Amino acid sequence: MPYRAISPERLPELLRRMPKAELHMHIEGSLEPELLFAMGQRNGVPLAYPSVEALRQAYVFDNLQSFLDIYHAGTTVLKTEQDFFDMTCAYLERAQADNVVHTEIFFDTQTHTGHGLSTETVINGLYRACEEAPARYGLSASLILCFLRHLSEREAFECLEQALPLRDKLVGIGLASSEVGHPPEKFARVFARARELGFRLVAHAGEEAPPAYIWSALDVLKVERIDHGVQAIHDAALMQRLVAERMPLTVCPLSNLKLRVFPTLEQHTLKRMLDAGIVATVNSDDPAYFGGYINENFTQTFAALGMTGQHAYQLARNSFDASFIGEARRKQYVERLDAVFETFV
Ligand code: ADE
Ligand code: ZN
Repeated sequence: MPYRAISPERLPELLRRMPKAELHMHIEGSLEPELLFAMGQRNGVPLAYPSVEALRQAYVFDNLQSFLDIYHAGTTVLKTEQDFFDMTCAYLERAQADNVVHTEIFFDTQTHTGHGLSTETVINGLYRACEEAPARYGLSASLILCFLRHLSEREAFECLEQALPLRDKLVGIGLASSEVGHPPEKFARVFARARELGFRLVAHAGEEAPPAYIWSALDVLKVERIDHGVQAIHDAALMQRLVAERMPLTVCPLSNLKLRVFPTLEQHTLKRMLDAGIVATVNSDDPAYFGGYINENFTQTFAALGMTGQHAYQLARNSFDASFIGEARRKQYVERLDAVFETFV
């Protein structure tokens, strides 16, 4: 494999320069403390922290739930369509700097409708930024609405109904929030409905919960990608299936570190999964909270695990293969990827 020989000193530059797609990033988790404070002020929403620095210092988590509590508090500053637009533009600018050429952005409408906002306010603000992304930031962006799994099936159905008039602004449906105790089966019927409506389907599974959640995301929800999925490593039959079906996993190493899914980055299983033939990708999840955007995820994980140029190529290639872009654009992006790698051999 020619790319395995790329020297380790040149890897960080290659990782930064290679074109890539980001497939697992919650837009509410990209809200940096500075913008969060500015929005709180302009919208008259008081915050429990006296300063940007104090807020950032509170970003120490024991597990997924301890993060979700702070993340949810942060979303209370979002009030207007312009807020959703501004938040998305800030992310897109960062993504462009990391050579992201395509992104599929998660958002949770229910968080915001729970604060009294309308579905239109949320989706129209996000969508306008996505629409302007090619001209402003040189990248394409689409939207995936995630149901909150700690809420009921009925509430997920309501959320889907409210989004239907804006259906053309969304590419897919996902499932996020507190995983343990809220298995995929709880959302079997609403995912079946979303599938009938023609949405692409993804779900968080096997972030903290056991491999059984991944099996049922595949068999019951019939998803096309698994978000996280790192617990699959404990189930040999599942690993075989993921490889055989080329089922993509959107892995988020710094998130796993900060939420203590793995005690250290050196113990992360990304390299083992790739070497086993899993179609893994690297993503930032909630970059404002977990200490880095996508390139930081790449460079830190490669340094910790001693990964090679071949892994870099495979991860970038997987990100395009696993994306929901059409075949013609996928091919163009892969050509751009190949061209960058050729300059490094
Ligand atoms: N919502 C935002 N980030 C999440 C994560 N890592 N897992 C589940 N739900 C989330
Ligand atoms: Zn996530």
